Amino acid sequence: MKTVIVTGGAGFIGSAVIRDLIENRDYRVINFDKLTYAGNLESLASVADHPNYRFERGDICDHIAVKNLFIEYPPDAIMHLAAESHVDRSIDGPDEFINTNIVGTSVLLEAARSYWKGLEDQTAFRFHHVSTDEVYGTLGDSGLFDEQSPYQPNSPYSASKAASDHLVRAWHETYGLPVVITNCSNNYGPCQFPEKLIPLIIQNALAGKPLPVYGKGEQVRDWLYVDDHARALCLVMEEGRMGETYNIGGHNEMQNIEVVKTVCRLLDERIAEHPPGISEFSELICFVTDRPGHDQRYAIDAGKIHQDLGWKPRETFESGIAKTIDWYLANQQWCDHVRDGSYQGERLGLAAGGV
Ligand SMILES: NC(=O)c1ccc[n+]([C@@H]2O[C@H](COP(=O)([O-])OP(=O)(O)OC[C@H]3O[C@@H](n4cnc5c(N)ncnc54)[C@H](O)[C@@H]3O)[C@@H](O)[C@H]2O)c1
Repeated sequence: MKTVIVTGGAGFIGSAVIRDLIENRDYRVINFDKLTYAGNLESLASVADHPNYRFERGDICDHIAVKNLFIEYPPDAIMHLAAESHVDRSIDGPDEFINTNIVGTSVLLEAARSYWKGLEDQTAFRFHHVSTDEVYGTLGDSGLFDEQSPYQPNSPYSASKAASDHLVRAWHETYGLPVVITNCSNNYGPCQFPEKLIPLIIQNALAGKPLPVYGKGEQVRDWLYVDDHARALCLVMEEGRMGETYNIGGHNEMQNIEVVKTVCRLLDERIAEHPPGISEFSELICFVTDRPGHDQRYAIDAGKIHQDLGWKPRETFESGIAKTIDWYLANQQWCDHVRDGSYQGERLGLAAGGV
């Protein structure tokens, strides 16, 4: 049985990857996660007692802990998802993003290189770096990001992810470390921390709170259901060509305001009793100061992963968002538990003074 180390496995996408690896494939999985505010082991309840699953709490910036991880659990692959991931937080405090996303990635790369050099069969190992389409910056009204798009990150978050992508690529070019990189569009689905748009809107609507939409809500994102992303990641980890980048996207371009209105409509259909003073959830929508440096449009050309590896998304936005809302309605306890930490739904990302 092959062993995969997943960093950031207690987060939104990492937990979906681990559920896929354990429930649908035959791997031993080591989840290495610091459990920051964004990490929650409840997201892994369905696999927690599985004999092939193991959790190790640790920080990817901690050289010794990472080195010991490779000694204790010699991996066939590492899937690196641990990161600080919220753009608004990166605007308020970039240091943690630089530390985790850049320094942490370099610590992992060096530990992986040292481990890989000692392997008898060096071709079998792979380092899979999970990244974002935000490294490419913003699009105008037309066009798509593909693997040749130039890097032009605009936020501290995307700049830190871009830096980590470059490090991973350089470790391949310089040392020959077998790496694959994926850059994906915006994900949504179960177990996403309720500071991100879709779970924030669901939670605020249920509480009868305003539904904040940045600027005029005209920014366009290409939404992908998280289980489709997890399946793509497992496929790239297993079959991706070494040294290659694969873009992953959902072919679901939507303006933020359309997304918010869709969530409101689906909640209206599911909830008979609305909070006091409103008859439709969309009455709670309010437009707030835009995010500084807010990218206008992201959209992915996922042709390469489709042609080379046969991947395409299974969910449409309509089917995925319905599943997502049903999950949040059925798992309010999960939301209560993740929110009883530091974050209480306050507006982040304006500290820099921006617009
Ligand atoms: N969410 C998206 O839409 C999206 C889209 C494309 C790519 N990505 C990338 O996918 C990855 C996962 O994103 P997510 O949305 O699941 O993030 P998340 O914020 O939900 O989870 C991040 C996880 O990393 C852990 N972590 C943070 N710092 C750590 C450290 N120093 N050491 C060990 N663990 C640490 C956290 O505890 C948490 O469990 C990130 O690399 C992100 O850049 C996210």
